[in-house]
Amino acid sequence: MDISFLLNGETRTARITDPTQSVLDWLRAQGLTGTKEGCNEGDCGACTVIVTDAGGVRALNACLMMMPQLAGKALRTIEGIAAPEGALHPVQSAMIEHHGSQCGFCTPGIVASLAAAHCNGRTDHDDILAGNLCRCTGYAPIIRAAVAAQDAPVPDWMHDVPPAVDLPGAVLPQSADDLAAWYMANPDATLIAGATDVGLWVTKQLRSLPKVAFLGHCTDLQEITETEAGYRIGAGASIAALRTWAEGPHPALAALLRRFASEQVRQAATIGGNIANGSPIGDAPPALIAVGATLTLRRGDTRREIALEDFFLDYRKQDRQPGEFVEAVTLPKSAPDLACYKLSKRFDQDISAVCGCFNVTKNGSKIESARVAFGGMAGIPKRAAGFEAALLGQPFTEETILAALPALDADFAPLSDMRASAAYRREAARAMALRYLREASGEATSVLEVSA
Ligand SMILES: Cc1cc2nc3c(=O)[nH]c(=O)nc-3n(C[C@H](O)[C@H](O)[C@H](O)COP(=O)(O)OP(=O)(O)OC[C@H]3O[C@@H](n4cnc5c(N)ncnc54)[C@H](O)[C@@H]3O)c2cc1C
Ligand code: FES
Ligand code: FES
Repeated sequence: MDISFLLNGETRTARITDPTQSVLDWLRAQGLTGTKEGCNEGDCGACTVIVTDAGGVRALNACLMMMPQLAGKALRTIEGIAAPEGALHPVQSAMIEHHGSQCGFCTPGIVASLAAAHCNGRTDHDDILAGNLCRCTGYAPIIRAAVAAQDAPVPDWMHDVPPAVDLPGAVLPQSADDLAAWYMANPDATLIAGATDVGLWVTKQLRSLPKVAFLGHCTDLQEITETEAGYRIGAGASIAALRTWAEGPHPALAALLRRFASEQVRQAATIGGNIANGSPIGDAPPALIAVGATLTLRRGDTRREIALEDFFLDYRKQDRQPGEFVEAVTLPKSAPDLACYKLSKRFDQDISAVCGCFNVTKNGSKIESARVAFGGMAGIPKRAAGFEAALLGQPFTEETILAALPALDADFAPLSDMRASAAYRREAARAMALRYLREASGEATSVLEVSA
């Protein structure tokens, strides 16, 4: 299979024999070794590159991107961030000026992340750099460099226009209809959306995936539309797009998604992948279950709608037939009582030990409805059915929550693993329930600023 794309401003065609070959491996084999391999699993950002397509300019991890995903896009590596005649990008000049590099291993990735953010006029430098690990310089000089460069104009050579190219249809379906027909005929294939889970099957588990289809060119799967029932989020919407959109109708979801991995991973990862992967510690499902989201599953031309919580049957087992894929998830128009708490060892770029999402509504002084869902407390994202029942009809007070905690305990039998012990998880879930009540009563409970 041949794919064409723009590489540092020049059209390239690459012959692909293994569709799961990472962009990082391909680049380094071409001699473009400025892009580094640190972790090969999306954690360190040393491999960050800039990708432009119709959706805009994004910083992505080359270690998690597979070559067919590049078709029809523009790729810029660290070798292409300075002008062809050698003039430095403002971010590069500022990194020198502010001593933003010591050993230099992280520097190409940091410059790529900052240059992508600079193209987009973003100044949330802490967020932008959360996926770039620097072990020796320290972040203060790097942030100083980012601030110094932020108002400089975007250099002309950074305005990439992705080429119009023919896409190999079988591996790269271009609409949900294409995908539905192809997947019915090839139900044994692996679907790859953002590749932020599947990429690790290849790089870490060394699995070979004989038959694959990439969903990233099905642009209709990325749409977010308003319907009578609420908002329909296409399965291919990225976590970054969902976060930006949710800031309006679902601010608690947006705040949770800020803690989802890093900028690079959020730009690649999709909501469909987060759901279909069926991980017990995926962050979006507990929040979506708590707002009462429904899932649209599609097999050929047949669609069915189910409550999201019913999709998760058992550990890594979902209600999905051969040839059936996740097409969309539908959320209500708003959920003003939703609050989400993600507990992990680090604030940024970390997987949840426990993620608790609460959506309790009152009628007068009494609790009228309660939807509470947890990640990390069972083999699947799961509602706290007994806890919810114990709240209904009760006043929303600390006494009610305390009286319902034994039911919360009984709802779950969490595991002990490297992230947390079962006892810690139970304790965390109880504390989250009390925190929800206290925040709803107006108490400030931020855990971000710790003081002695
Ligand atoms: C460094 C790093 C940090 C991470 N941090 C977090 C985090 O903080 N929180 C979190 O929840 N997750 C995290 N993840 C996991 C991952 O990013 C998410 O699960 C992500 O949403 C997966 O989406 P994707 O599009 O990349 O899925 P892919 O990797 O492409 O696919 C995942 C699975 O879903 C299937 N699939 C994809 N789309 C569909 C579809 N439409 N229909 C049916 N099946 C489909 C695939 O076949 C595969 O089985 C992290 C991953 C990495 C590498
Ligand atoms: S090599 Fe670490 S994120 Fe890609
Ligand atoms: S300069 Fe050494 S890791 Fe950042």
